[in-house]
Amino acid sequence: MPIVNSREMFKKAYEGGYAVGAFNVNNMEIIQGITEAAKEENAPLILQVSAGARKYAKHVYLMKLIEAAEADTGLPIVVHLDHGADFDICKSCIDGGFTSVMIDGSHFPFEENMELTRKVVEYAHKYNVTVEGELGRLAGVEDEVKVSHEDSSYTDPAQVQEFVQNTGVDSLAIAIGTSHGAFKFKGEPKLRFDILEEVGKRLPGFPIVLHGASSVIPSYVEMINQYGGSMPGAQGVPEDMLRKAASMAVCKINIDSDLRLAFTGEVRRHFVEHPDHFDPRQYLTDARNGVREMVRHKIVDVLGCNGKA
Ligand code: G3H
Ligand code: 13P
Ligand code: ZN
Repeated sequence: MPIVNSREMFKKAYEGGYAVGAFNVNNMEIIQGITEAAKEENAPLILQVSAGARKYAKHVYLMKLIEAAEADTGLPIVVHLDHGADFDICKSCIDGGFTSVMIDGSHFPFEENMELTRKVVEYAHKYNVTVEGELGRLAGVEDEVKVSHEDSSYTDPAQVQEFVQNTGVDSLAIAIGTSHGAFKFKGEPKLRFDILEEVGKRLPGFPIVLHGASSVIPSYVEMINQYGGSMPGAQGVPEDMLRKAASMAVCKINIDSDLRLAFTGEVRRHFVEHPDHFDPRQYLTDARNGVREMVRHKIVDVLGCNGKA
């Protein structure tokens, strides 16, 4: 199975009432942990790379590692640019072998967002690369830009048809109350399923994307707090809400913070339990296993994409 774009994957997910996990990758151990779980559960995968990840690890290293993961597992894998800020980064990723890109014009006025998105779609489709756009604005931190809860805004369902028709995007990220990072809700978690439902009615059969969708799994927060870290007030999206979204029009669920928590929790535990260790392979093995088990849990208990590769 070659590295693929998201078209077929989303069609099957929409029809099957499940979602595909889009996991952020930054290094070899994260890629291996995710792909080992997906292979064991025979699940389709989206591995996504942010501008920060490209800066940290370099495009070519991540691309080659993902190609190695594909060769090792034989799974359908989409290589996706997460939160592309402008045309140039999207072009660079398309030219560099990615099969899918996100152009995130959500902070621009509607017309400008459409114009930028359309330009990326025109270029991407020449190379059979699929494109994700975004309407509405999530709170939280992404690529060092912090959006406050006051500056975030829900997607307006009245705009989605015009946006999709005029831009030609293949999927659409919408804002229904999730946010990036490990501190998503101040009080009771609340998502606007009424907006998701209305968007689904206006775009029948069209794949919707949910960003900021980590559950901030409490056992990992506890692990971090137990082994010398401090994350008071960390809170994510309850898993039953994610399962509900996956059974509706949501075909792609973005997960980064839960990977960070699993990886860092295991590293912290390793050093408390083995203060004499200094071989990176020892603590990185624990980190990789932590990522694998967390991703397996997501695939089987949250996304419902096990057995769907
Ligand atoms: O949405 C943001 C992702 O979690 C990526 O984060 O830009 O720090 O790599 P990053
Ligand atoms: P989390 O911070 O909830 O993991 O969201 C990640 C994300 O949306 C990446 O685009
Ligand atoms: Zn995001």
